[in-house]
Amino acid sequence: MSDTARPLRAVLFDAYGTLLDVHGVARLGETIFPGSGDALSVLWREKQLQYSWLRTMAGKYADFRQVTGDALDYAAEKLGLALTRQAREQLVGAYERLTPFPDAPPALAAVARLGVPLAVLSNGTSSMLEAAFRSTNLRDHFAALLSVEAAGHYKTSPEAYRIAMARFGGQPRDFVLVSSNGWDVAGAAHFGFRTFWVNRLGAPVERMGAAPSAVGTSLADLAPWLAAQTPT
Ligand code: LAC
Repeated sequence: MSDTARPLRAVLFDAYGTLLDVHGVARLGETIFPGSGDALSVLWREKQLQYSWLRTMAGKYADFRQVTGDALDYAAEKLGLALTRQAREQLVGAYERLTPFPDAPPALAAVARLGVPLAVLSNGTSSMLEAAFRSTNLRDHFAALLSVEAAGHYKTSPEAYRIAMARFGGQPRDFVLVSSNGWDVAGAAHFGFRTFWVNRLGAPVERMGAAPSAVGTSLADLAPWLAAQTPT
């Protein structure tokens, strides 16, 4: 059966960087460390991702709240910023109040109108994801907020993507993963998901041996492409 003839079990959304703007924390960082908010935000995110990959490779899973805090500690020290306990709590806590990208609410509503279940599939812990999506008006769009903590492996491990099938059944080709993280799209494609890359910044395709099924310049491009993927 061709992919477009297979009904989708769910459309899966990456959370951080795709629906929720992680660099919103730069504003808070700037108020705490004037002149260093952007640098802190960029290095913090970079280390957070590195630690998730490296811990997965080493078989040393620690949950995303810990990885996020560890990455912040490293970034602050590297930039010579004295991180108080209170500032650390404020910054890590900001992950539970991130702002959605402006294209996210209308795109989620448009995808929901196609009648396919929506879910989040994220490295974040369940409690981080529940808090973050409850603080937006987006929580009700999702049938599930799936956290890789159930797998004990971060993306791009196949175990991380497999949790979608534990929840919704089916085969990898019965899912679309939507992410603005090119490496996540490549990992999901290796696993066998159909993929939609939200390339807001016009980045080059990751050279990981797996092309996205489709590419959009914003989440607004998703529903029209999905409509063509869904049997009528
Ligand atoms: C997530 C990270 C990859 O939400 O942004 O899973």
